[in-house]
Formats: sequence, C-alpha cells, structure tokens
Amino acid sequence: MKFSKPAGINPIDNQKVVTRPHVRLDGPLKVSGKATYAYEYRGEEQAAYGYVLSAGIAKGTIESMDLSRAEAAPGVLLVLTHENMPEQGKSETPVPQQQKASPQLSGPDVSFYHQAIAFVVAKSFEQARAAANMIEVKYTPAKGHYELDKQLKAAKPDEDSEDSVVGDFEQAFRAAPVKVDLTFSTPDQSQSPMEPQASLASWDGDQLTVYTSHQVVHWVQAGLAATLKIPKKNVRILSPFVGGGFGSKLLFFADIVLASVASRLLGQPVKTALTRPQYYNATSHRPATIQRVRLAADRNGQLLAVGHDTWSGNLPGGEGEPAADQTKLLYAGEHRLIRTRKTELDLPPGASMRAPGEAVGLLALEGAMDELAEALDLDPVKLRIINDVQHDPEKGPQRPFSSRRLVDTLYVGADRFGWDKRQKQPGQVREGEWLIGMGMASAFRANMVQPSGAKVILQPDGTLAVETQMTDIGTGSYTILGQVAAEMLGLPLEQVTVRLGDSDYPQAAGSGGSFGANSSASGVYAACTALRNSISQRLGFAVASTTFEDGAVKCGDQQVPLTEVAGNDGLSAEDTMTWGDLTEQYAQASFGAHFAEVAVNSVTGETRVRRMLSVVAIGRVMNPVTARSQCLGGITMGIGSALMERLEVDPRYGLFINHDLAEYQVPVHADIPDLDVVFLEDLDDKSSPIKAKGMGELGICGVGAAVANAMYNATGVRLRDFPLTLDKVL
Ligand code: MOS
Repeated sequence: MKFSKPAGINPIDNQKVVTRPHVRLDGPLKVSGKATYAYEYRGEEQAAYGYVLSAGIAKGTIESMDLSRAEAAPGVLLVLTHENMPEQGKSETPVPQQQKASPQLSGPDVSFYHQAIAFVVAKSFEQARAAANMIEVKYTPAKGHYELDKQLKAAKPDEDSEDSVVGDFEQAFRAAPVKVDLTFSTPDQSQSPMEPQASLASWDGDQLTVYTSHQVVHWVQAGLAATLKIPKKNVRILSPFVGGGFGSKLLFFADIVLASVASRLLGQPVKTALTRPQYYNATSHRPATIQRVRLAADRNGQLLAVGHDTWSGNLPGGEGEPAADQTKLLYAGEHRLIRTRKTELDLPPGASMRAPGEAVGLLALEGAMDELAEALDLDPVKLRIINDVQHDPEKGPQRPFSSRRLVDTLYVGADRFGWDKRQKQPGQVREGEWLIGMGMASAFRANMVQPSGAKVILQPDGTLAVETQMTDIGTGSYTILGQVAAEMLGLPLEQVTVRLGDSDYPQAAGSGGSFGANSSASGVYAACTALRNSISQRLGFAVASTTFEDGAVKCGDQQVPLTEVAGNDGLSAEDTMTWGDLTEQYAQASFGAHFAEVAVNSVTGETRVRRMLSVVAIGRVMNPVTARSQCLGGITMGIGSALMERLEVDPRYGLFINHDLAEYQVPVHADIPDLDVVFLEDLDDKSSPIKAKGMGELGICGVGAAVANAMYNATGVRLRDFPLTLDKVL
C-alpha cells in the first residue's frame, strides 16, 4: 500500500482502542525480569564468552602483540587479532555505517581510543577477561586532533546538510535595526542506555542467528552480512527487547561482528557484551558543536535575517551533527544563511544521538531568540508567535506544513504555566539564597517516515497475531501496534498478540529518528487492510461497506464472527506501507512549547528545575500513556543537556575520561520535578493513515534552552557554553 494522498476517514478514526490510555503490554515482563535481553540468552548449548580488548591509544599503529600468555591461559578457546581475522567487507571510514560493512580487527591501524584490537573467547567470562589482559601490545602512537575549537580552519561543507542561502543575508543583517550575533557551544554527549551493546551468535551450517540489542533489525542484518561477506538472507537478527538505544543502537559495533566470527570458527555459540567504559569510547556519541547564530529583526520583532552556522568534528568519513537544520524551517525571515560544517577529529566515532541536530541546534537557536526578544524589549513568547510561518520559509507558500500548531502550543503553554507572572527584568525574584526565574523555548522535530511492513494472522480462536521487524526500545511499540491492529479488526486489545524484533518478520521501520511509531503503525494498518479486504471478499461482502466490530465482520444486516472466518488454519495477510511524495509536497514536523521554572542558588551556583510544562502537537496521539512517557524521557534528557551532560575529552590521550555512569552525569529522579505534558488535538492526514507524527525525540528539543533562558531570568547571567554547570553560573 502506498500512502500518496491525504488520509480520509478510516477504521483508525473509530478510536475504540487507539488513542486510549493502555499501559504497556510488556510492562509486567520487564518488571518481573521475564523480558529476555540479548546477553541473557544462553544458546542451545552453553555459549562461550568473548571479551573485547580495546586499544590503549587513540591514534597510531600496533607494532606487535604478544599473545603467548593469553593463549595458554585457563579456559581460552580462541584469540582473534588483525593477524588471524578472516576476510571482511571493506569500509572507507572507521565510523560504523548503517547497512554497510563495518569491519573489526581489520588491520594494525588504530583510529580511536578503545577501538577493538583483540577478541578473547573462553569458557567463562572471567577467564576471557583475565586472558585478554595478558596480551602485551606495543604501539607506535601518532599525533591526533581531539579539540573541535582547534580544528575549525580545516572544516568543510557537510554533504548531508545543504547550505540554505536565501536573499542577501549579510546585507539584511547589517541594515537591520535590532540584532544578535551569538556563539554557543555544546559538548560531546553519550546516549548512555542502561543495556550496553551485547550479542549472542550461533551458526547452523551457513545460517547465522544473533540475539543482539538493536534499534533497526534489517539495518544490522544488512550491515553484518556485508561485513561477513555472506548473503543477507543467511543472517537472522533477534532483538525482541532493547534496553534503550537513543541512537547508539542504529549502528553495530565490535560485539556482534566478533561474536559472529568467533562462533563460526569455534563451531559453538559465543556471547559478549561491551563493558561500560567500552560503551562510552568504542560505540558512538553525539559530537560536540560550536554554533554561531545571527538573528536580525525590525523594531516590531519581525525577523529579517536568520543565520545559523554550525561546526562539529568526526573521524574521517563520519557524519557531522546537523545542528542548523531546524533553523531552515522553524521561523519566518526573508534573508537566510544556514550552513553546516564538519572537520576531522580523532575522537571515538560520532553518530546519531536522540534528536540528532535539533536537540543541540535548538539550544543555540532558542537561546538566541530569547536574547533577541530582550534586545527588542518584547515578550519571548510573542516573538515566536510573530515569526510563525505556516509554510516552508525557504520554499514559500507552495510548500505548506502538513500541520503546524506551534502558535497554539505557545498560547496554551503560556496560559497554563502562568507565564504572565514572569518578571521581565532578570534577578528580581528571590527566596532566601535562591533566585527564581522562568524561561521558555519552542520545540521542533522533523517528521520522517520509513517504509514498514507487517503480517497479521487471524487465528482459529478469533484472536489476532501481529508480526513485524519493528523494535520496542522501551517506547511502547508492542502496545501501540496491538492497539492499531485491534482497532482495524474490531477486537479488544487483549485479543491481539504482537511479535517484534525478528528479521524473519516483514521488514519494518525500526526505532529511530522519531519515525518508528508512525511508520510501523502504518505498516500494521496496511497489513490489516489487506486482511480486512480478503475476509470481506471471502464472505462475498462489498469491501467498501464491510465493518469490523465487536469480534465480527458486518455488512448490511449480515454478521459473521471472526472465529468462523478464520477456519481451521487461520487466515493471514501481509503488506508494506510505502510513501509517495507527500513529504516533498508538505513540510512535516512535530511542534511544541516548553516552559521552565528554575531556582539558582546564589551562594553555590546550583540550579534546580522546579517545574516544567510541555505542550506538544504531534499528530494523533496513539496512546497517551506511552506518548507521555516518551515526552517525559525527552524532557529529562533535555534537562540533562542543559545542566549536566558532558563527555570530558582528555586532549593528551584522545579519550572520554568520564566513561561510566558514575562520572557521566545524567539526571536522576531527585533532579527532576513533576513534569506536566499537554497534547493538543492535531490530526495530520498528510503524514500517514494513522494521522500521527513523531513523538520520540520532540521532548528533548528545546528543553535545554527553556532551562537556560529561565536561568538567565533568575540570575541575569547569560551562559552559552553547555552544560551550564555551577562553576559557570558563579
Ligand atoms: Mo534516534 S538518535 O534516531 O535513536
């Protein structure tokens, strides 16, 4: 089924199951320890354990490795290095690639700290780890570059993010009466999911099966096959439960490649997990950015010139952080200059982390909007309302937004938060040692979609099974896909079983880029539509006037229970939702507004977020419980990006030194106050037949700027170098 024109009325609109607040179907499994994660599988026989040995330098060459003690150590079955590694697919870059070969142990060169340099397999994990540490490695180190601000001169255009050049920005900026020209910096950040990368690989002849932790099953299936130089169909990936990802499980790393190779060589299952420090340095992180934002307006606050330049660094061939992309679409402004640049650094691989681009881009843009509002002596909410635009501001009215309720989120948010109580002058509200302030920011996240397939099976007992490769990374996929299928077939949710995360199921969107829920629900919609059609044809009913309600198929005054339709063998249908060019015809994004109240201690500089309100318009809310959880998680991460999160680069050795959850600071419960989330009604019929858009990453977008703007309102101190830790406040 191809989605190529705006969705009309369809069974999803019945809303008997969809849009209802169902708790997660997988919740009881998770809290009772019955949800099995990749490292918890044992394999048919007891698996051998692999341990990855990581490089102790960031850049250079391995001169020699003495394996003699390791190979003689108790329990050791295999030691893999670049000298005995079987041939693999080639890659142009040390940064792992989606769906492409990402070889491990491919030569003596070291490109980043903690790069895998050996893999020791033994009968127990402890034996493997002990033996790995007996390997003696001699390196010839080379000089690397680890600091973004020192490599800006070598920056080049980022081919993934086109320059936006509209009108004459420089002239308009020069001539405008009110303007700001500000530079922000954001640090390297880590996704830090609870479950690190882990894999259990086993072979049956030419057939490889891997339990692993991944966000998009067919991407890792294709990438692993290309790495091992075997057909994709010979690789089966299973990822039924994923303990968080936040982008770090869009790629695949040493664990899955080395477990697969070792298992084949040994003829037995091999399991391995990356250690927490290896997670931080040897998977991927969000690259640091330096961003210059120039905004100019007339005296009424109408934007005349919008400029955003951003720089980030990565290993050769790696992607840049697209931190300026949202600025192309968020606000009006006749003259525009928006550019993304990247430079080479020898830090560990940079890649996607939750809301790549917007999450840090809005820290800069929305901070600059706050400063512009102050320069204009205008309320920051009003400044945003004045500059709302209902079409792509680069391409003009011929490319409208599919739906855009930014202004409504701003009005509703300001009203519910009590924005009118904010003191315009900073530093006015004091409670003992604490200075109190309010701030706000807009939220924006591009709405993307991916082709997504599913199979639905009406079983002889009248219940329905759904099978799709889509993953559930803690987000609620099991639940919302069950709801969609239940709605389509007129069943209660309890009569639907959802099976996910298996490459044997129809290829699906997976969890990434906030496209997962909308795309995979559309895939289930397509498969259910096929099943409905086949059932009504089988019964001789006119398809257009057939309805599915209360466990029965109805047409006119005829009614047949689904239990009779299924027969003895059940009845199944499969289809894939693909997408026409509506995403070209319409600019598509989710929108919202965040409001924050903070208290900053005037003695210690400590900042506490006191309350936050987020009003979001995300298309149809398929399930308000899971959508709200997504938003709360995003807001929490946004608060972390404002106040805490920072990978510390050691410029002498080229590694992130705070490589564990004790030292990489993320918010915990005690840091997060009650958060309020409000959904505005927003059916987006151009986005999908579900009329939903993305929610996953919107929560993080803009939150940090709202907190920073509130800190300014509290203290009168402007900070643009994230995170805004207490040493900077004082
Ligand atoms: Mo997201 S960074 O696409 O998991």
